[in-house]
Amino acid sequence: MADARLCEPDDVTIAGKAIRAGDHVAIVLRAANRDPARFEDPDRFLISREATKHHLGFGTGIHLCLGNGLARLEMNIAIERLAKRLGDIGLATSRLDRHHTQLASLKSLPVRKLSKRGA
Ligand code: HEM
Repeated sequence: MADARLCEPDDVTIAGKAIRAGDHVAIVLRAANRDPARFEDPDRFLISREATKHHLGFGTGIHLCLGNGLARLEMNIAIERLAKRLGDIGLATSRLDRHHTQLASLKSLPVRKLSKRGA
């Protein structure tokens, strides 16, 4: 799924591709963070990948998400609590179903305990 925009008023070149004024451009938001030229093995969740630090999940530039500090804090607390409660967890499926929307969010994320650690 993509958002269609019109290129105007001038011709532009983005990443070596020439786009002429008047061309229709399809913007595929779900491709953000999936550029193999930037993110090695982009479809894998590799939190320690060096380039992961430069993800676009909170946008960039002057419209960088104002709530990103709060969102990161909430996520830290949630993951820490989850790890304390469940111990080591891993994926319980080899197939992840996604919603077919602009953001490709997961329909569910089945997990299983890998160790007896946790409450
Ligand atoms: C995981 C949670 C969140 C994600 C993934 C997220 C993602 C984003 C993204 C991608 C943008 C940029 C949109 C653009 O470029 O047009 C944005 C902007 C924004 N976000 Fe978030 N956001 C999150 C949580 C929050 C929270 C908790 C708040 C406020 C408490 C917040 C407030 C804002 C505001 C005010 C903007 C507009 C900034 C601007 O245009 O200058 N966000 N967010």
